[in-house]
Amino acid sequence: MKNMKNKYLYIQTFGCQMNVHDSEQMAALLADIGYQTTDNKKLADLILLNTCSIREKAEQKVFSELGRLVKLKEQNPALIIGIGGCLAQHLGDRIFKRVAQVDLVFGTHSIHLLPQMISSLQKERRKITQIDFHRKLISLGVFAPPPKDSVSAFVTIMQGCNNFCAYCVVPYLRGPEMSRRPEDIIEEIKKLADHGIKEITLLGQNVNSYGNNLGNNFSFASLIKKIGKVEGIERIRFTTSHPKDLSEELINCFTEEEKLCEHIHLPVQSGSNRILALMNRGYTVEEYRAKVDHLRRVCPRISITSDIIVGFPGEEQNDYQETIDMMEKIRFDSVFSFKYSERKGTAAQKLEGKVDESEKLRRLKELQLLQNIYTLEKNTALEGSRQELLVEGKSKNSASDLMGRTRSWKIVNFRGKPGLAGKLVDVKIFKAYLHSLRGEIIQN
Ligand code: 5AD
Ligand code: SF4
Repeated sequence: MKNMKNKYLYIQTFGCQMNVHDSEQMAALLADIGYQTTDNKKLADLILLNTCSIREKAEQKVFSELGRLVKLKEQNPALIIGIGGCLAQHLGDRIFKRVAQVDLVFGTHSIHLLPQMISSLQKERRKITQIDFHRKLISLGVFAPPPKDSVSAFVTIMQGCNNFCAYCVVPYLRGPEMSRRPEDIIEEIKKLADHGIKEITLLGQNVNSYGNNLGNNFSFASLIKKIGKVEGIERIRFTTSHPKDLSEELINCFTEEEKLCEHIHLPVQSGSNRILALMNRGYTVEEYRAKVDHLRRVCPRISITSDIIVGFPGEEQNDYQETIDMMEKIRFDSVFSFKYSERKGTAAQKLEGKVDESEKLRRLKELQLLQNIYTLEKNTALEGSRQELLVEGKSKNSASDLMGRTRSWKIVNFRGKPGLAGKLVDVKIFKAYLHSLRGEIIQN
């Protein structure tokens, strides 16, 4: 099939890293039926939007992009438009009612069916909806070769989620948790290493419960240890961890496994026990803090980042204040913070005590200002320190600078030759900013 005439594919990805990786798999599958990716949508024969539905804002972004694509289709009626990902899973063929120009709606379990569906649309323009859930992990077996010159890659180790946090649509849109077999994951990582990848980030909604459905007592920590032996891979990261399942075995990996980077993203969501219970998170603030203390005791260098939602239904001023107090005590390295966004079908939708939009915004802004102080404080503490960087390439700030990340996931800009891309170098940090650090190479 590879000798078919080349056609152009444009994929736009919304939302999380999981989606970024799914898009890479889509591109790899469609390359097999003659589609070459382009970053110019005007050239495209096929446009796919890989969508997110986690908050209302994410959905709005997709629909405004679709509005622009409709105009492209008026100029090029042969253009195929497909909508995949969480919003597609959520709305199914209702998308056709909102935007008649869409040809294909495919859900989160149907990526592997893309070549078949696109070939059928090429022959006959009959709208396709494919949003079935499958019991097996079919789509994750697709190997997506990393883009040229990349040093870092994502590897999905599991899909779905069984946690049903009260605010979250993921369990409904990505289905129950299913883990990939360790041997399949290792094989993929070996292939990535052969392509020059040095750093891998293991992806899952709750990596700490990796292996639960495999029935072989193979834990996430055991997986990390196995990956640590793959030649060529220098750094291992993972996201996201659920605090309730963070095991001592995994915490110990931060000192025992040399390749595991000293960073953990550990979403806390709220500092109020009452709200955490309403959210169905399965831990108290005290238990969360005990895990943070344990992490810092075992690995003092570890950087800890988190997610926080403000304005969850029933969140009173004193609950919010407890979140602020917790942040003051914990001092996260950085925080992704969100206004609660009501999602259809979730448990939180039925809760009373909805918080006004303006009040949510006030809390969010205040919380972000406060976190900026802590983030800068954490970054400033690194001034004068020596840090190992994996050089990713040119810096966004200046053409003569390079950019790399520390093991603790902080961005460092520094002066250096482009040939250093993909290499591990040591730098001395001499200036800290809110979103990055500035360093200089230490000559050995
Ligand atoms: N409203 C606001 N934030 C949400 N998140 C998930 N669902 C919602 C929602 N309905 C946030 C959580 C999660 C992150 C990925 O997105 O903080 O950890
Ligand atoms: Fe959503 Fe909770 Fe699952 Fe994370 S753990 S994906 S927040 S339900």
